[in-house]
Amino acid sequence: MNSSLILGGTKGLGRALAAKSLQRGFPTTVVGRSTADAAKEADLAAASLRQADLSDPTAFRDVLREGDRFTHVFLVAGNFLRRPLVETSYDTHLQMANLHLLAPIELLKAFHRSRLAAKPLAATPGQPYHLVVISSTSSYRIRENEEMYCALQAAKAHFTRNWAGRMTRDLPGSKVTLVLPGGMKTGLFDGTGQDTSGYMDPLTVADIIWDRVLQQQERFRTIVMERRGSEPDVSDHAPAPHDPLP
Ligand SMILES: NC(=O)c1ccc[n+]([C@@H]2O[C@H](COP(=O)([O-])OP(=O)(O)OC[C@H]3O[C@@H](n4cnc5c(N)ncnc54)[C@H](OP(=O)(O)O)[C@@H]3O)[C@@H](O)[C@H]2O)c1
Repeated sequence: MNSSLILGGTKGLGRALAAKSLQRGFPTTVVGRSTADAAKEADLAAASLRQADLSDPTAFRDVLREGDRFTHVFLVAGNFLRRPLVETSYDTHLQMANLHLLAPIELLKAFHRSRLAAKPLAATPGQPYHLVVISSTSSYRIRENEEMYCALQAAKAHFTRNWAGRMTRDLPGSKVTLVLPGGMKTGLFDGTGQDTSGYMDPLTVADIIWDRVLQQQERFRTIVMERRGSEPDVSDHAPAPHDPLP
C-alpha cells in the first residue's frame, strides 16, 4: 500500500503536496516545526503530524518511526535568504545548508539503510521507494543577493542526480523525481517585501507533481516548472546554468 512522508509539509508547497496526497488516498505523514498550527488546518485533518526541526541532522529518528510503510518520500523543507553576501553570517549559512542539504542527507542515509535491511518485497534486495526532491529554478538562474540560496538549490539538485544512481542500483524498482519550480504564492518570502500575488498557486504545482510522480516509469525524471505569469510552463529538462554576465 502506498504511503507518503512529506518533510516540510506544514506550510506552502509541502502542505499542498500533503493535501493532494490525502486526496489520492495515501496515508500521509507530515513533518515540520509548526505541527500545532497544521493540526488546525482542515486540509491536513487526516494527516499524521510529526514535529521536528529538519535543520538538525540528528533529529530524524522519530521522523522515521515506522518508516517501512513510506513508499513516497518528499524533501520539501527550505528557507529563503536575499541579502548582500557581505552582510550575512556563517551561522545563517550553516543553518540554511543544514536545512536544505546536510540534515536531509543524514535522514535519507538512515531511511535508505532501513530499506536495504527491510524484508524483500520481490526477488531483489530490500524495499524500493520513490524519492521526490523539491529544488528550484534558482538552481540554474542568476539572482542578485541570493548567492547562498541559489548555491544550495544547485547543490540539492545535483546531489539528487548523483544519488539517483546509487538508490536505484541498491534498491531496484526505486525512482527519483527532481522538481525545479519557479515562484509560488507561499510564505517563503515573508518579510522580504516580495509581491507574490502573480506567482504560481502551490496547489496547482502540487497536482502536476503528483500526476507526474504517479505516471513515472523511468528511474529518474526532472520536472521543471518555469513561471509564465501565474501559470506553470512544464518541461522535462533543466536548462544549463545561466551566464552570470550575459
Ligand atoms: N515559494 C517559491 O517560490 C519556491 C520556488 C522554488 C522552490 N521553492 C522551494 O520549495 C520548498 C518549500 O518552500 P515553500 O515555498 O513551500 O516555503 P514555506 O511556505 O515557507 O514552507 C516551508 C516548509 O518548510 C518547513 N521548514 C522550514 N524550516 C524548517 C525546519 N527548520 N524544520 C522543519 N521544517 C522546516 C516549514 O515548516 P515549519 O515552519 O512548520 O517548520 C514549511 O512546512 C523550499 O525548499 C523552497 O526553497 C520555493
